Parts: sequence; C-alpha cells; structure tokens
Amino acid sequence: MFSKDTYTNRRKILKQSFQSGILLFLGNDETGMNYKSNTYPFRQDSNFLYYFGIDQPHLIAIIDIDEGNTILFGNELTMEDIVWMGDQPSLSDLATAVGVHEVKPYNKISTYLQSRTVHFLPPYRAKNKINLSKWLDIPISNLQSQASIPFIKSIVKQRSIKTTEEIEEMEKALSTTHQMHTTAMQIAKVGMTEAEIAGIVEGIAISAGGRLAYPVILSKDGQILHNHHHHNILQEGQLILGDFGAETASCYAGDITRTFPVSKTFTTLQKDIYNIVLAAEMQVIEQLKPRVSYRTMHDLASTIIVDGLKELGLMKGTTDDAVELGAHALFFPHGLGHMIGLDVHDMEDLGENYVGYDEQTQRSTLFGTAYLRLGRQLQSGFVLTVEPGIYFIPQLIDQWKAEQKFTDFINYDKLESYKTFGGIRIEDNVLITETGHRVLGPPIAKTIEAIEALRQS
Ligand code: GLY
Ligand code: MN
Repeated sequence: MFSKDTYTNRRKILKQSFQSGILLFLGNDETGMNYKSNTYPFRQDSNFLYYFGIDQPHLIAIIDIDEGNTILFGNELTMEDIVWMGDQPSLSDLATAVGVHEVKPYNKISTYLQSRTVHFLPPYRAKNKINLSKWLDIPISNLQSQASIPFIKSIVKQRSIKTTEEIEEMEKALSTTHQMHTTAMQIAKVGMTEAEIAGIVEGIAISAGGRLAYPVILSKDGQILHNHHHHNILQEGQLILGDFGAETASCYAGDITRTFPVSKTFTTLQKDIYNIVLAAEMQVIEQLKPRVSYRTMHDLASTIIVDGLKELGLMKGTTDDAVELGAHALFFPHGLGHMIGLDVHDMEDLGENYVGYDEQTQRSTLFGTAYLRLGRQLQSGFVLTVEPGIYFIPQLIDQWKAEQKFTDFINYDKLESYKTFGGIRIEDNVLITETGHRVLGPPIAKTIEAIEALRQS
C-alpha cells in the first residue's frame, strides 16, 4: 500500500473532472472455484486499488461529488472471521490509512445510489454485474453500454501516466520476473515436461510475496500465442517460448517473453528467425520517445520482419505493400504491445480503445494489426510492452495457401518445411521518459550468445 497522501491526491485529481453525481468503485469479492468457500486466489479490482488501496474482498467506495464526501462500504470483522482467519486491522483503520473517514455497512450502498446520477465502470465480474443491475435497475445486458464514458476517460488519463513510486513497484515485479526467466533458461532440459518449468517459475513469483501477473505461457509450441497447456515433454531441437511475469504484493505487473532452445545451442535456422525478431524488438525500442505513434512502431516491426523473411526466401515482393495489405500477419498475427501497470493489459476492463486509441488514431481492421492494443502517440510516463514475434502456424499456413492469399508476397512452397518450427517472441517492458525511454528491470539474457551461455552454465 502507498501512503495516505498518494490515495488522497489521486482522488482529488479525479474529482476535478466532475461537477455532479456519484463515482462508484466496486471492489471484487471472493469467488468459489468448485464450491463457495473453496475460493480462487483473491484479486482486488485495479481501479479500486488505484484510488482506495485496500486489498480486501467485499468493499465498495463512492466519491459523492454532490455532497462532497467519500465513503467506504464494508463490514467490520466478526468474531467468526477472527476465529477462522485471525485478527486483522479493522475496516476503519484501513480506511484511515487511505485517507477515508466515513465507513458504512456494505448493505447500505443500495439506498445511497437510489435516485442519483451514478458514474459506474464496465463490470467484468458476475457478482458485480448482478448487484449493479439490481441497485441501478439496469438490465445486465445494458451495463456495458451505460457505463460512464467521462469516468472511464478520466481514469485512463490518470492511470496511463505512472509515477515514480509506481515505477519502483514495476521494477520490483521485473526483478522477480528476471529471476523466473533466468531460472527457466538454466533448468530446462530434454525429458522434462513444460509443466515442471511452469511450476517452478510460478513458485518464484509466489515466493517473492506476490503471484503471477497472468497465467504462465510456456510451450515448445510457441506458435500458439496464448498456450496454457504444459503437458509436452521437451525434446532436443525444440524451442521453448516462455511468456510470464510476476505481480508484486501491491499488484503491479511484469510481462516478459524469452525464447530459447531445449538443446544447449540454437540451430542455424532458429538463429536466423530469432535474429529477425530480436532486430525488430531492439530497433523499435531504440525509437521510443514521447509523441512517437505506436501504430507506426507496429508497422516498423512488421517491416523488419518482412525484410528478414524476404532474405530467407519465405516472403517476396515490395515490403511496404506487404505490410500495408497485411501479408506479414501470416507470421506476426498480433500487436506489437500494450500498456502495463496494475494490470498486465493495463485498464483493459475499461475498454481497449479508450486506453490504446484516440481521435487521431483509429484501430485497424486488418487481420493481425487489428489486435494491436496500443496504437496512439506515446507520452512520458507510459509503460508499455514491446513484443514482436514470428510464428509458423500450420493450420493458418494451410488455409492461406488453399485460398491462394497474398501469393505475390508469400513463398508457400518454401514454408512447408517450417510447419514444425514453432514460434519466437521477445518481449520487454519500457518506460517512456521526457527525452526517450528506459527498459525497466534487470536485463534478461536476450542475444543468441547470452542465451546459449546461460543454457550451458
Ligand atoms: N503476456 C501476455 C500478453 O501480453 O497478452
Ligand atoms: Mn505482453
């Protein structure tokens, strides 16, 4: 938790955007996995955390602009809570620690909201959807469209610019993430299952006092972008793509990807593809500074990928045309990156287009480029991921080949032998500064030489 002043100042800045109404912050509740009291790990809502900092279930907060007060709704500990979970700080102590002086029982919230203008955020949890629908008398199916756009926009504006104390938390997340990736590169060996490595890296995140920022993606099938199955047994000659990051105890995320060989060294073919992805990642990072358009950076990465694949004879034709028409998306079918902070895809609950796009930058409709979560101009204080990749997805290759898609740009015959290659992605987290950028966290082996050295250590 940050200091009382941090939360008070954050709320003060937010309040300045509103003349009337109630700003409603729904905290998250415990959720049963297989029965009510066997719960998923609790994760507080990030907007609630940002403005109210209390990492506990079953809380709601309001900022009442009309009345000029801020109230926390929740229930004080009962003796039963103390018997089962031990003594804990009282709700009023927690409220005081974040500068809130009024605490009311949870069930008083509904009367507070009646006949008032309520600014609420798009709910993503079933219980919050049901409660909101009941309290505001809005059908569940209309909650998304009736969420307050001024509320969403004000929060996005504020949370997009990370403060020094937030950057320090993100550095902590990345320090643990460094340990996770370095360990994975040291311990992987032929005969292990992917699950053995996934379990160890998750353990490192938990041992550091936090948890994972998102479920581990770790597979010899790197071409499956978000592969959460870890059942394969590692074999000589395969690549392992590991995309995982720690979340700190204060809930700030790290999101790093590295790809390395199961054998002690990369094959020549693996090196060729790896170095194209590495060039795309490093050349994009080099360009990052305020006012640079991230959509332009996505196109730069795509251009480097097409040029590299042309040198290997997998693509052909004019590079700019291939990128403009979307032919590169056979190999790079996702976006270059996204904002990161309290959420790994920061503020995605508020709507990707509010976070990553604006009046000047509209989202592309092209396959691949349409998945770009961040397209707008960068500002000092943004933290974002840079994560280009090259993938050989056999089913997509077969489909495009059968449809004779982009035959001016793709050498399908040569591609046949790549269908078992897998995929390569390289990802780092970057802060935009006044004059340029800073890659956050301790450096994690990234060049062929550094990775091979780690594999042999
Ligand atoms: N780390 C997963 C993603 O960025 O989607
Ligand atoms: Mn990412």
